[in-house]
Amino acid sequence: MLIFSGSSNTSLARKIAKDLGKNLSKLEIVTFPDKENRIRVIDKVLDQDVVVVQSTGVSPNRYYIELFLILDSLKRSGAKSITLVIPYLGYQRQDHIFRDGEAVSIEVIIKIIEGLGVGRVISFDLHSIKIPEFFKVPIVQLSALPVFAKEIEKMKTTDLVLVSPDMGGIRRIKLLAEQLGEKIPCISIEKNRDLNTGEVESTKINGEVKKTAVIVDDVISTGQTLISAANLLKKNGAEEIYVMATHGIFASDAPTALENSTIKKVIVSDTIEVRPNRRFDKLQIVSIANLIVDELRQ
Ligand code: R5P
Repeated sequence: MLIFSGSSNTSLARKIAKDLGKNLSKLEIVTFPDKENRIRVIDKVLDQDVVVVQSTGVSPNRYYIELFLILDSLKRSGAKSITLVIPYLGYQRQDHIFRDGEAVSIEVIIKIIEGLGVGRVISFDLHSIKIPEFFKVPIVQLSALPVFAKEIEKMKTTDLVLVSPDMGGIRRIKLLAEQLGEKIPCISIEKNRDLNTGEVESTKINGEVKKTAVIVDDVISTGQTLISAANLLKKNGAEEIYVMATHGIFASDAPTALENSTIKKVIVSDTIEVRPNRRFDKLQIVSIANLIVDELRQ
């Protein structure tokens, strides 16, 4: 098995390769002054099973184009099979038509990936249960929840509640509560997002707030969902508010906004590489590399 990495999350790709006792295979990625890319596979892939690790994140268009060219170069060079490890599958939040006239972005992305010869996909905590249905090739959905369960166990507090910041995430906190194996209460928050301005308002809490609140979400982009949820929890008696989210995009001024918020700690996994200049004091990153390695070993 050969492992190639795009440039979006090379630290995760290196961890995966190291745990498998391998080096990353060689790929040349050249960016021209106009930002077009040229990709060239250097190692021989003829009749080989290859794995490509590429996430998206703050620059999805850049990393998707890079990925498409990597896949094409591997296929043209004779790779026998291609497994795509795409820890964060960008564009997945547009998984249906919210308003007349919109594109279903994730369906377009999946069609392209499959058209370029990917035979299997490994990803994490997909935004909705319908996303796997878009795939014709096998898709393995892993989850950062077991890693978050360990972090909650370390907190050693009994007065704790799991919180979904919107109605769509209730299933996620129930799964986490099951993994913790204790009777941990789960509550949810009703939220409105203005689709024109992107502004978020948390309007109502369904359930009883406890001293420690752990808000669990799939993705943090601007951070507004979590900040708004945390403010409402604080007003209703929560003293310590933690956030756990699989995918930390941290777009625009999210790092500063989260650092200055009522949230005590923001824990994300390394499905997306958070560049050093986007990190902040309250941020903790936990790795999901071993979950990918276990899947690739099967
Ligand atoms: C929404 O349905 C998602 O689960 C996240 O809550 C949302 O995408 C987070 O976005 P932001 O950080 O910009 O509020």
